[in-house]
Amino acid sequence: MKAAVLHAPGEPLTIEDVEIAFPGPREVLVRTSVTGLCRSDLHFIDGAFPHPLPLVLGHEAAGIVKAVGRDVTYVRAGDPVVLCLSVFCGHCRHCLTGHPAMCDTPEVNLPPGVSRRMSWHGETLHQFYNTSTFAEQILVHEHAVVKIRPDMPLDRAALLGCAVLTGTGAIFHCAGLRPGESVAIVGCGGVGLAAINGAALAGAGRIIAIDTQPSKLALARTLGATETVDARDTDIAEAVLDLTHGGVDHAIECIGSKRTAEAAFAMLAPRGLATIVGIPPWGTKLELDAISMLADRRIQGSRMGSNRFRLDIPQLVDFYLQGRLKLDHMISDRLTLPEINLGFERMRAGTALRQIIAF
Ligand SMILES: NC(=O)c1ccc[n+]([C@@H]2O[C@H](COP(=O)([O-])OP(=O)(O)OC[C@H]3O[C@@H](n4cnc5c(N)ncnc54)[C@H](O)[C@@H]3O)[C@@H](O)[C@H]2O)c1
Ligand SMILES: [Zn+2]
Ligand SMILES: [Zn+2]
Repeated sequence: MKAAVLHAPGEPLTIEDVEIAFPGPREVLVRTSVTGLCRSDLHFIDGAFPHPLPLVLGHEAAGIVKAVGRDVTYVRAGDPVVLCLSVFCGHCRHCLTGHPAMCDTPEVNLPPGVSRRMSWHGETLHQFYNTSTFAEQILVHEHAVVKIRPDMPLDRAALLGCAVLTGTGAIFHCAGLRPGESVAIVGCGGVGLAAINGAALAGAGRIIAIDTQPSKLALARTLGATETVDARDTDIAEAVLDLTHGGVDHAIECIGSKRTAEAAFAMLAPRGLATIVGIPPWGTKLELDAISMLADRRIQGSRMGSNRFRLDIPQLVDFYLQGRLKLDHMISDRLTLPEINLGFERMRAGTALRQIIAF
């Protein structure tokens, strides 16, 4: 099968003929229908985070089950599924306390460097977060897939596996936004737009969208933003404090920089909560005004929207089919696998929204 392989950071991915194993007892082999490009993949292409190489990136996808291992009863060949990198074991402390996205049990989450599912010219190919979706087929643990309704289009379903699960989960699970509360979304890419749509679904009173690109701000309004701030030549924290006469209840940072994460905290009202979703470069340290914490202001991290994806994704599918989750607006470009580097160039230039590869 064909897969896009990263051989060295900073180099383009190359399309290679790759061997993939047969499913082990609890594994599922998926024929990839659609995969989305996420900025987190780009961080690894650019070498911002180390990872054993050669590597098949990609972690946002939907497809059809091709074969299952001996002990798998949850899905069977022909089922449509969405993949998620939050592979859960179901019996660790995190899983049993309702936080399966924190699961790191090695039995389901092979640590980086312990790959065994793909090879190329006899050499092990590393699997990215136990998924590796930039490939015609994907071999995963059964706890990396969720079955979805057959009437859900797979191109839009793919986005649910990372961007939309992360953005909506930041609102529903991490921030726990209550109806009427105000929220600022810092960065309106795939993740930020999903957070805006999630905030609208959760009944936010004011939704302030912040980005440097006017086209993204226009789309943010379509998805539910009530106000927008153009971040070019503006101190975004000052702008939000002015607009709200004292700050927002929630700020959701969806970019991944020191400056914007600090600004997310600085724009909070007393008792406000900043949720940092964006992934800044390795080693980044944040500086916060400590005295602001005297007014109960808080800041927290967020991994994959603290999801319970086997519950969340079918619910997001229902929201889409009811017309309440506007996935159609989030796809800007459709590519083939050989065009993948073009997609990442567009992502670097900042012009694209979610880009998908159809197989
Ligand atoms: N925590 C998690 O589990 C998780 C999951 C998925 C993605 N992420 C991270 O979330 C971030 C967003 O991912 P994405 O795929 O939506 O990226 P994206 O590139 O689609 O979106 C980023 C947006 O930020 C805007 N932007 C950039 N610099 C800005 C600035 N200074 N001020 C205002 N706006 C600015 C861009 O115009 C763009 O619209 C990335 O860092 C990604 O790695 C984290
Ligand atoms: Zn992602
Ligand atoms: Zn677990």
